[in-house]
Amino acid sequence: MDNAATTKIKDKVLESMLPYLKDNYGNPSSIYSLGQKSKAAIENSREKIAAFLSCKPSEIYFTSGGTESDNWALKNLLKNSPKNHIITSQIEHEAILKSAKFMEEMGNRVDYISVDHEGFVNLKELEEKISKDTNLVSIMEANNEVGTLEPTCEIEKICQKYGVPLHIDAVQALGNIPIDLSKRNVSMMSFSGHKIGAPKGIGILYVNENYKINSFIDGGDQERKKRASTENVASIVGLGAAFEELNDNFEERILYTKKLRDYIIDELLKMDGVKLNGPREKRLVTNINISFENMKSQVLLPFLDFNDICASQASACQAGSIDPSHVLLAMGRSRQEALNPLRLSINYKNTKEEAEYVLEILNKAQKKFKAVV
Ligand SMILES: Cc1ncc(COP(=O)(O)O)c(C=O)c1O
Repeated sequence: MDNAATTKIKDKVLESMLPYLKDNYGNPSSIYSLGQKSKAAIENSREKIAAFLSCKPSEIYFTSGGTESDNWALKNLLKNSPKNHIITSQIEHEAILKSAKFMEEMGNRVDYISVDHEGFVNLKELEEKISKDTNLVSIMEANNEVGTLEPTCEIEKICQKYGVPLHIDAVQALGNIPIDLSKRNVSMMSFSGHKIGAPKGIGILYVNENYKINSFIDGGDQERKKRASTENVASIVGLGAAFEELNDNFEERILYTKKLRDYIIDELLKMDGVKLNGPREKRLVTNINISFENMKSQVLLPFLDFNDICASQASACQAGSIDPSHVLLAMGRSRQEALNPLRLSINYKNTKEEAEYVLEILNKAQKKFKAVV
């Protein structure tokens, strides 16, 4: 019940990787055949990914994950131009928020756009904040805590109108909504492998061919001189296999997951003092986020773990933190509510029986801990 934190590596992904962890261990930059086998495997993976996303293979850059892709999208601006204004939202992932903070420390001006009570960014405010100095807008496709699907089509139109490059963090959206880059107007988009059954530590920054990105990690000539370091060949191959698998029964998977999500939400809302965080419809099919009026997350989560249920308070990156969720606070929730959310993130492998078990344990927890607030 915590697939937004990470997913299990898929069998076909692991199988595809093994040869590159064993015999085919050549460095892709070596000119002899063993090295060139690795190089060919990387390019093959790049092509599969580009086919899935409907973009050019040359627009795909491999990174170490979503965090690096987000850092690159923002920090590349340091070498860019005299423009020094960035716009993002208050509910972005820490990878964006902390990169934005860094950019502020480096002399940039950053505006953090507010969101409404369901987590939708304020489009009017976004348009008002754009100025002749704006170098980048960075807004997420789907929020990692409450699952809100942002109005990225409208955001694209606004950015186009003013000629401002747009970066989208699509880490949580990948595999859960169709992403067709040939129909989108974005300069950069971030993805991560471990959310779709590929290994941890591999990701992508899509960079539109018309956007001139600066290198982020300097060193060798890898990734067309934009991202140095010997490529993580096995993980790149695994990522290609994971993307290929996303095509299998895509619509069927989405429909099944949505039905299961709606069942869980409906049942949860029958419980005493349960509030849904985020919108009912325009949310990730995988996301359920609620606050219990009378139960603390710090009491509930260990109880769930004791009953073999993996779940989160906010995002995995903030697990263990006793700070209130910045996302819920931005949505206007009280400190108490922002301190005590429960995020369940399902996927198509979860069954109705598992959902029923979780609901049973949550009902038990509510009876047991009602007094401990
Ligand atoms: C929206 C979002 N962006 C970025 C990341 C970071 O991705 P990674 O774990 O691959 O660094 C995450 C991870 O949960 C995420 O949810």
